[in-house]
Amino acid sequence: MDAYRLPNTHNTHNTHNTHNTHNTHNTHNTHNTHNKGEPRKGLDTATHPLVVAVVGATGAVGSLMARELATMDAFNVLNTGTTLEIRLFASKRSAGTQVHIPTTAGLSVNPIVQELTESSFQGVHIALFAAGATVSRRYAPLAVADGAVVIDNSSAFRIDATIPLVVPEVNAASIIRDGVARGDNGDNHGEQHQHQQHQHQHQHQHQHQHQHQHQHQQHQHQHQQHQHHQHQHQQHRLPTPPMIIANPNCVAIISAVAINPLHHAYGVESVEMTTFQSASGAGMTAMNELVTQASLFTTMDDLSTLHNPRNPDDDGATRQFAHPLLFNVIPQIGDFHGDGTTEEEDKIRFELQKILQTPVRCTATCVRVPTLTSHSMSIALQFRDEFDLSDVATVLRNASGVVLYNNHFEGEYPMPLVSSNTDKVYVGRLRKDKYDPKRLHMFVSGDQLRKGAAINALQIMELAIK
Ligand SMILES: NC(=O)c1ccc[n+]([C@@H]2O[C@H](COP(=O)([O-])OP(=O)(O)OC[C@H]3O[C@@H](n4cnc5c(N)ncnc54)[C@H](OP(=O)(O)O)[C@@H]3O)[C@@H](O)[C@H]2O)c1
Repeated sequence: MDAYRLPNTHNTHNTHNTHNTHNTHNTHNTHNTHNKGEPRKGLDTATHPLVVAVVGATGAVGSLMARELATMDAFNVLNTGTTLEIRLFASKRSAGTQVHIPTTAGLSVNPIVQELTESSFQGVHIALFAAGATVSRRYAPLAVADGAVVIDNSSAFRIDATIPLVVPEVNAASIIRDGVARGDNGDNHGEQHQHQQHQHQHQHQHQHQHQHQHQHQQHQHQHQQHQHHQHQHQQHRLPTPPMIIANPNCVAIISAVAINPLHHAYGVESVEMTTFQSASGAGMTAMNELVTQASLFTTMDDLSTLHNPRNPDDDGATRQFAHPLLFNVIPQIGDFHGDGTTEEEDKIRFELQKILQTPVRCTATCVRVPTLTSHSMSIALQFRDEFDLSDVATVLRNASGVVLYNNHFEGEYPMPLVSSNTDKVYVGRLRKDKYDPKRLHMFVSGDQLRKGAAINALQIMELAIK
């Protein structure tokens, strides 16, 4: 039924899911999908450490990726004697600051953040980007040129048909099959893909450089780097060639994990969803802003300052969203397009189609809510055929990455406080539509900083180093 699905991991989750015997959870070391007994033909880390750069290491996603990287069993994924070196980068603003990284045997990490520069990727095998699309557009091609596999959390490359957009439980095969990197639907063979990707990168860089005065010098520099890359590529020791892999939008990841097994079982024709997205989805500063608003609120009188979204007396506590978030819900995430949809809503539609590899009709209404972490969504799925609700529950119970949390009479349904700090997608409130026997309603919640970003990126990294 599910050709793309990775074997279920060794995660165990004991807190909530008394019903689900397959999907078990453990917050740490949840990424490894490899049978540790098998020898690997990847990087020889007995003599060379696996070098991983984290770009955006002071941010909500980047700092989590760095911490999780330090504790994950990437060591066991590689050959015996693996050592890991983590290099932390951010902008000039926070160069010199320290990020707390747990110390582990075999790990070498300088916790002091370095300023990201064009030469930051020399000797780097994997570059994890979480610094926004502008940074990714500029630096990801340079990292690839230096021989790295880039896993990018931003939206910069997701719509590019030659760039894989990966949720390991759903479409791991779109990255690697028999050592061949593939873009859309696995149709491109590795060399062709790389060639296209280089062309793409040059185009991207070219457009970008157009805006700069030193276009010519940069182009020359890039050309030199390209030659350097060709040289490096011959020595590249990962089974995955230097390339960019896109990590999808957080709602797209979480909803795809829940929708994919149902799509394989029943054929999903359309998806309608309303999202409930946490403050941290807009980054560390946004999360801090909500906490500040909450801490400033002491009496009901304080509501008056919150009521006027553009209050001239606003003390500066509202900067990250179009309106105050405390005690509010904001039906806008991203800028509006001419047809009244937002950027975020379009991302979800496009990315779900690419990840599920089907032109499913998808309509989303994205809403920011005053929770700190985890995004939730109310989803209606239109199936090709009628279905049995208990079969749906069975499919979800057995699905990789899913926790069926559907005991509503006992107050068990997905909520941010349930899914936060876990790596699973919680699915519940299952019910048939009252008017349409082919329509299913469900409620889904997942930690968008973890499975919706950092953990998904690390799972992709595991696939790349296998
Ligand atoms: N938050 C989420 O739930 C989530 C989920 C999925 C995907 N994403 C994506 O992940 C990326 C990071 O999001 P976030 O929420 O972690 O943002 P964030 O908390 O605002 O962090 C942004 C990071 O980028 C760094 N940065 C900014 N400008 C830079 C530059 N010119 N050079 C180098 N580093 C720079 C910042 O460093 P400084 O400390 O120096 O400013 C900071 O470390 C975004 O593309 C976002 O769309 C986020």
